[in-house]
This record gives sequence, structure tokens and C-alpha cells, in this order.
Amino acid sequence: MTSTDLHDPGREAVRARVAAALTRSRARSTALTDAVDDDDLVRQHSKLMSPLVWDLAHIGNQEELWLVRDVGGREPVREDIDNLYDAFQHSRASRPGLPLLSPAEARGYVRQVREKVFDVLDRSPLEGRRLLQDGFAFGMIVQHEQQHAETMLATHQLRLGAPVLHAPEPPRAVVPLPEREVLVPGGEFTMGTSTDPWALDNERPAVGVHVDAFFIDTVPVSNGEYLAFLDAGGYDDERWWSAAGWAHRQKAGLVAPRFWERAEDGWYRTRFGVREPVPVDEPVVHVCFHEAQAYAAWAGKRLPTEPEWEKAARFDPATGRSRRFPWGDEEPTAEHANLGQRHLRPAPVGAYAAGASPLGVRQLMGDVWEWCDSDFHPYPGFAAFPYREYSEVFFGGDYKMLRGGSFGTDADAVRGTFRNWDHPIRRQIFSGFRLARDAAPHEVR
Ligand SMILES: [Fe+2]
Repeated sequence: MTSTDLHDPGREAVRARVAAALTRSRARSTALTDAVDDDDLVRQHSKLMSPLVWDLAHIGNQEELWLVRDVGGREPVREDIDNLYDAFQHSRASRPGLPLLSPAEARGYVRQVREKVFDVLDRSPLEGRRLLQDGFAFGMIVQHEQQHAETMLATHQLRLGAPVLHAPEPPRAVVPLPEREVLVPGGEFTMGTSTDPWALDNERPAVGVHVDAFFIDTVPVSNGEYLAFLDAGGYDDERWWSAAGWAHRQKAGLVAPRFWERAEDGWYRTRFGVREPVPVDEPVVHVCFHEAQAYAAWAGKRLPTEPEWEKAARFDPATGRSRRFPWGDEEPTAEHANLGQRHLRPAPVGAYAAGASPLGVRQLMGDVWEWCDSDFHPYPGFAAFPYREYSEVFFGGDYKMLRGGSFGTDADAVRGTFRNWDHPIRRQIFSGFRLARDAAPHEVR
């Protein structure tokens, strides 16, 4: 390999993209961990979450395993800690009891690993192995760090105490608002991808999927709409809930979205340490799948399935092809979507007109993850890559799909094909939903 081969323009572009993405993801995890003191970093703010210091060192350990040792073929930095930071070895609840690296050690460790990774990046041919093609291994690690950054943001939301995170307000809604719902035509569309270079194994391969004509809401369900469900006694009316949903509602004592509380003068919510009246025009967030499903039943509609959601987000009726994002193939900007923790809340429903799909559906990317009424299964032709534990071991489990990312999801960690999954009872995540319904024969032309 000569230096000319190593530094051809195509590969240089990949290297520059990787370097910028690594720098951005590290700036974010650093900001999230520097925002609190050491006591706070080692504390467990909820049994659902790891101490922040575990996430930080785990980010470094995954990066060491894949980029330093595997891609780089280098000597281990800290082989002795592999087990501590293996997510499959220790439940989140048990992690505070482990002999974890201290905050100072964790910061030193991730810095040391990162220095080696930049050296590996400089020397990697970025081809020859599938893991290296288009910088996939680096892209996978960037996405991993960004996913943990979103998890750390959720830990911040669970943390008690004064606000430590700050960000500007998101843009307002674009008036007039679009029509409430649009018809998505029936027929086959391309779901998933075989070509997106950093797409993960569960998004592959691209497959033709038939979807019957259906209606989907142009915006997610708002807090104001959700309040009407509360006021109508929706949480106390078994009719709207599935059997599993009602059992969970009873057992967990659900009465409202997580982080909401009722006061004399109405409902309040706490958001990253700020207590404020529930904003009626913002998409509802911190609801579990069961709550989303119950609301949908009460409203006389249903949740979209995962193929329906993806068709609404990607299908271009003019060309018949599927786009990378609702607005086209280009990477998200601040005009398209509320992503990347640029704001610390979802934008009001009807914002981001520039991010609308060809059919006029808004806010599919960013703001809130959207629950879909589908279980986690592989696409036909799925092949685990680069390891079974990324997706395969979760297929067929007690999970429901979430699509589109939230205000806490980075643009590098989501796209129209990106699939997220979680237990149907989870609501510490930035999860909301939008509604869909079948199209009656007379409504389809
Ligand atoms: Fe992880």
C-alpha cells in the first residue's frame, strides 16, 4: 500500500467525515459528563440507568475493542476492564456495585483510546475488509457513542436537582398547520437499505414491502390532545387498553406521562430540572407503548406499523423510490429536524416544514421517538454484522419498535431506515407517537 493509495480523495473524504463525527460525539459525551460533579457521575439516578461514569468508560471500551484492537490490530489499552464494561455481563441496576474506573480514570482512559483511534484512522486503508469499507467500523462507534449520549441525556432527565443543561428554545410551529392526516397510497415500497454505508445490520437489506393504503397524521400527538385523554378518564377506562397494557397500567399505577404532576392550577412537568406548566402545543413525550396504544384506541385510530411509518417517511410517490430522509437524501440540518440535543425539548407540532415528507408529513425525524405497533424482526435476507449481539439476540423479544429519533438523537445516529426498539413499558426514553388509520375503500382513489 503506497501513501497515494492511502490518501486518495474518496478515502480522504471518508477520513474527514469520520474525524468530524468522532470529535462531535466526544464533545457531546464530555459536555454531558462535565455538567455534574464526581459524586453525581458515580451515583445511580434510576435503576433503569447506569451511573454516567459507566457510560463514559463503556464508550471508551467499545471504541478500544473495535477500533484499537480489531481495526488497528494494536495492543490492548486496558484489557483488565473489558468485563466491567460489557453490557451483557452486568445489568444496569448492578453497575454501581462494580469496581468501576473513577471519573478521573474514565476521562483519562477515553482520551488515551481516542488518541490511538486517530492514529489508526490515519493509517487505515478503509477497504479490504467489510468492517473497514466506507469507514463502517468508525461509523458504528460514532453511532454507539451518540446512542449512549442520548442515554446519558435520559439519565440527566431522571436526575434530581437544579438544572445543569441549557439550550436555546426550538423553532415555533409553521402556520398554517398542515391538514391533520394524509393518505399514503397502497402498494409496494422499498424498506431498509443495502447501500447506506453506515446503516446497521438490522436495517439491511433493502426489501420490497407491500402496504395497504392508510392515513397517517401529519404531526405527532400533542400534550394538549393527550390532556383531553386524561380529562376523559382514559387512564381509568379499561376499554382503551390492551390486556397487557391494562395490567401494566394497574401494576405501575400510571395516571399521566412520566415526569408530569397534577397541581391546583393544572398539570406541570419537570424537564431537566425545570418545572413548568405542560406546554399544550408540544408533542407528548415520556409515554410507553401501552399508553400510546390506549390513546390511539380512545381517539378512534391506531398506531402505525413499522412498514407504514417508514413508507410515510421515505416513499416519494413522484418517483416511486425511497429517500434517506423525509425531505430527500441530504444530511439533516437545523432547518429539517430537531435533532442532536440542539434544544432540550421537542418543538411544537407543526414545526420544521422544510423537513416534511413528499406527502406533507412533518417531524418524522427528531422531536420524539415514535412508537410503532410492530415487534422486532429481521428483514428477509438479514445477516448479523459485525456481531450477533448488535441486533440478532433481540429479535422476537418483548420489544416494540421506535422510529425517527428524538431531540436527543444525533443526526449521525438516525436516518429513515434506522430501527430502535424497547420494552413496551419503557418511558424514561424520549418517546411519543403519531396516529394512523386504515383507509376505507371509498377514500382510496
Ligand atoms: Fe453500549
